[in-house]
Amino acid sequence: MLEQLNEIEKSALESLQSVTDESALEVWRVSHLGRSSPLMTVFAGLGKLSKEERPVVGSGANRVKVALESALEERVKVVKEAALAKSLEEESLDVTLPGRGIHVGRLHPSTQQLRKVMSILADMGFQVYTSREVETDEINFQLLNFPPNHPARDMQDTFFVEADGRGDNPILLRTHTSPGQIHAMREYAKLNPDNPPPIRIALPGMCFRNEQITARSEIQFNQVEGLVVGENITFADLKGTLADFARRMFGQGARVRFRASYFPFTEPSAEVDVECFVCGGKGCSVCKNSGWLEILGCGMVHPVVLQNGGYDPARYSGFAWGMGPERQLMLRYKIDDIRYFWGNDLRFLEQF
Ligand code: DAH
Repeated sequence: MLEQLNEIEKSALESLQSVTDESALEVWRVSHLGRSSPLMTVFAGLGKLSKEERPVVGSGANRVKVALESALEERVKVVKEAALAKSLEEESLDVTLPGRGIHVGRLHPSTQQLRKVMSILADMGFQVYTSREVETDEINFQLLNFPPNHPARDMQDTFFVEADGRGDNPILLRTHTSPGQIHAMREYAKLNPDNPPPIRIALPGMCFRNEQITARSEIQFNQVEGLVVGENITFADLKGTLADFARRMFGQGARVRFRASYFPFTEPSAEVDVECFVCGGKGCSVCKNSGWLEILGCGMVHPVVLQNGGYDPARYSGFAWGMGPERQLMLRYKIDDIRYFWGNDLRFLEQF
């Protein structure tokens, strides 16, 4: 019996020498120390041995078990070390390889331009007034003096949120930032109804129009509205303010011109052109050879609009304007397709 144990030990240790990976170690453990291994069979048969044989064989079997277990432990160490050495050698890391770039997020070009416009206006003493994107027809159109059948109110141009049962006052997405003028004036007028305070604000934000999306028109775009209301505000203030803005925005040498125009909520109304900053006024494809680029619409706030805002037009006057940051970017960088702005193409966005 003891001889048999020696035999078991010898063959187990021998076969252990040829084990070189971790899964083979497990196979070895099961077949030499597992429940149906020869050694365990010896343990299982102890009960059938005579009183004299039992302790002798028992301690012999124990000795072999301990020997096999410690040999296994040793072997595990050796195999693991060898595996580590191998992986260090084979999977060597080339520390001179350039690393992978980290993608740093950035502000959308529209946001950048919007902030630039707002920071110039802040320097000029304007306060920021943010207004809602969801409006009523009344605020977006009626109180701004749009005649009932004005084309801008057409189904074609307006996204309606809720029209059913609201008569001639459906809820819609604002088509411009001008309705913010009404909210602002009413809020200021409420502070002191008999003596409304002067206003000097800039209103930035997204506008929406139900239009065919083409290279030249989008269904959403930003605007920055300006509104100044007070006593003795004249067209000269409008001209001075917007010319100053243009110089700060497009360079101190920037020349501007005012062209008569029409908006329902201003009288008189004008459009402002800045001398083409691409060709310096000589004429190019961006300014269509005119030497001028249109950058905004403006005018003296219509007396009806002042009245609707709670400001007595007999005492107060004001001016307002609206301009588009995306349009400014398109002119500045010769972007020929407005769809790039919301197309989410990183090749476009990463250039800013
Ligand atoms: N709301 C006009 C538009 O969306 C832009 C505009 C023109 C705003 C003249 C004004 C203004 O405040 O006085 O086209």
